[in-house]
Amino acid sequence: MAAKIISVANMKGGVGKTTISVALAQALAAGPRQAKVLVVDLDAQANASFWLCGQAALTTQIEQSKAIDGFLEDAIVFEKPVALGDLVRPAKAHGDRLFVLPSSPNLRLVERELIVYLSRRHRNLLEVERVVSTLLDEQLAPLRASFDVIIFDTAPGISALTEAALRLSHLVLVPTVPDYVSNLGLLSFCRTVSWSSNDVANASKRTPWVVSNKVKASKHHEQMLQQMRAEAQGAEREFNMLSTLIPSSPRIDEVASGLDMDGELAFDAEGMEVFVKLAAEVLDLAERVPAPQTRAA
Ligand SMILES: Nc1ncnc2c1ncn2[C@@H]1O[C@H](COP(=O)(O)OP(=O)(O)OP(=O)(O)O)[C@@H](O)[C@H]1O
Ligand SMILES: [Mg+2]
Repeated sequence: MAAKIISVANMKGGVGKTTISVALAQALAAGPRQAKVLVVDLDAQANASFWLCGQAALTTQIEQSKAIDGFLEDAIVFEKPVALGDLVRPAKAHGDRLFVLPSSPNLRLVERELIVYLSRRHRNLLEVERVVSTLLDEQLAPLRASFDVIIFDTAPGISALTEAALRLSHLVLVPTVPDYVSNLGLLSFCRTVSWSSNDVANASKRTPWVVSNKVKASKHHEQMLQQMRAEAQGAEREFNMLSTLIPSSPRIDEVASGLDMDGELAFDAEGMEVFVKLAAEVLDLAERVPAPQTRAA
């Protein structure tokens, strides 16, 4: 069965995109599902790469130009016959089922370079996004045959790379903290997700799924959750809500902040419980959704 593709995205920074990408991947690979999972890091901050590879292996990988920025530059600007699959490496734990395609800080520059390069060739922004998503789509095809799930961890904001990832995804997860500030941009971001498609003329609405993260037992969070659940039930809704709530937890923060980076991937059975629950809910959804429309009209 071809892998399901899941993007974890939100234009708001610090809401838990990377934490959820990595913990979800670990829960899918090491939890009861025993899935074979690939995390694709599309963020120049390279947090997921650092977490999954460990510092030494990531440094080597970047020095050998085996990160996604080098691949994109080689494939699009230099038109070299490169293969995305050559960048895939086992994660530092659960390396038989958990894999990573790393990023590097240089991705920021390469993304700009691609936009400049393609716009000088009279490609507008939509076409730039289509070039990138078509390339990723083609290159992921052989990888989809050998993985169960592919997870894109995306950067804050809405970059051309994020757009490309959204277009390829069966399922889009939008981590959100249920507070007023985090919710300000949620609707407009979810609208962006809903209509992302390479086949713009025939796009059908694809509603993203909000994951509530850093949830506290406070009145404000409770009220926001109620408001969001009400919005997610309307006929004209811009998002759905997953029922799993991820608590604000010092242990999650400790692991995600890198304090345990040299250890195993770090979530012990207790810390993993909520992500195993999330993984079950997400996989169940991913299995039910139809394939995205990725081909250009
Ligand atoms: N459930 C949680 N409980 C406590 N802390 C959390 C939780 N989830 C994430 N954090 C912390 O919040 C911070 C931001 O998390 P993370 O890096 O996953 O967010 P992000 O959305 O990927 O950020 P960016 O937009 O910079 O990519 C980190 O310090 C992480 O440790
Ligand atoms: Mg991140």
